Amino acid sequence: MILDLSLHFALIGFMSLAVSVAGLKCFNCENHVNPACGVYFKAYQFKADHCPGPDAKCALQRQPDKDGWIGIVRICYHPGSLQGINETNGCKNWTNDVSGYTAHYCFCDTDYCNSSLINSGVVKVIMFLMLMIWIVG
Ligand SMILES: *[C@@H]1O[C@H](CO)[C@@H](O)[C@H](O)[C@H]1NC(C)=O
Ligand SMILES: *[C@@H]1O[C@H](CO)[C@@H](O)[C@H](O)[C@H]1NC(C)=O
Repeated sequence: MILDLSLHFALIGFMSLAVSVAGLKCFNCENHVNPACGVYFKAYQFKADHCPGPDAKCALQRQPDKDGWIGIVRICYHPGSLQGINETNGCKNWTNDVSGYTAHYCFCDTDYCNSSLINSGVVKVIMFLMLMIWIVG
């Protein structure tokens, strides 16, 4: 099982190195549809898709609710989709001027980076370490 897990991480590591030229890969899911897309993201249940377009980013949208329930959406984001939002990488609040609806958005532009709220650099380091452990071990 431990071996399987590190193999899994190693494959993701290789893939993210090999595929980064072919286009950004992002997870696309909603916890409304599948609860595994929630705060505790079960990435193995989902397949990341290539985002069309050269300037696509991965986004993670979170939506507070009166009962504390958080709506979570992972998508390919295309610049210009949200009027007036600052599209630089990182997290920001955004309110739709028309509906008054507010949500929290995180943008990033590395493969699989909308899997979690963790900084993608940290994820890459962990993947690299897992890969090393797998090769050396
Ligand atoms: C967007 O945010 C970044 C960092 O938070 C900032 O440096 C940049 O000036 C902002 N861009 C716009 C158009 O407001
Ligand atoms: C977004 O709004 C929440 C409360 O609605 C606040 O706690 C948080 O600090 C805000 N984040 C940013 C980046 O402005």
